Amino acid sequence: MTQDELKTLVGQAALQYVPAGALIGVGTGSTVNKFIAALSAAHAAIRAVSSSEASTALLRAAGIAVVPLEQAGELAVYIDGADEIDPHGHMLKGGGGALTREKIVAAQARRFICIADASKQVDTLGRFPLPVEIIPMAAARLARQFAALGGQAALRMSGGQPYVTDNGLHILDVRGLRITDPLAFENETSQWPGVVTVGVFARQKASCCLLATQQGVRTLQF
Ligand code: A5P
Repeated sequence: MTQDELKTLVGQAALQYVPAGALIGVGTGSTVNKFIAALSAAHAAIRAVSSSEASTALLRAAGIAVVPLEQAGELAVYIDGADEIDPHGHMLKGGGGALTREKIVAAQARRFICIADASKQVDTLGRFPLPVEIIPMAAARLARQFAALGGQAALRMSGGQPYVTDNGLHILDVRGLRITDPLAFENETSQWPGVVTVGVFARQKASCCLLATQQGVRTLQF
């Protein structure tokens, strides 16, 4: 199977975690896009809280009502992809730039179901550059702070300009980190002035991961 077929497989497998008539949280990315397509094909009578403008547009096009988070209570489940997931369910996220809203919506859900293909499995987070959403004026100082941890931070660019998130902010991508204690790392760096969201999801870690492999979908519980 190609990686795209693996994403389709795991997107369909996630349907079993969607309670009938529920209000669910929906993440962002190419794997989640497959989940939204599966939801649409299943004509599931659900409503969703979305983590990005991109997912909102796809959900609406699929005929799924999108509810503002402010009007939602606790969500039954949050379903999202990851750029990396470790053996404890800690994730590195934000390759698609939606990490802040993803973390907010995930915090309001009882369970985080991560959907990923096997290429996302790692022993230690940090091979994928760590996305950090920041207040723009803090970029240079934060780059120096990450350098002190051994990372090389670069401002994410798009079309020759700094990439702008759905929140109107910028992203630093930090290469060269080896995040051996994700919870301590998230707790520390989240407090640095100018950091809005660090793409380490240890406090909002996965409850379960549906992992697409060539042998089928494996379910990992954390
Ligand atoms: C979006 O900001 C990210 O957190 C994505 O969830 C993550 O990058 C996984 O995306 P893919 O499913 O496209 O790999």
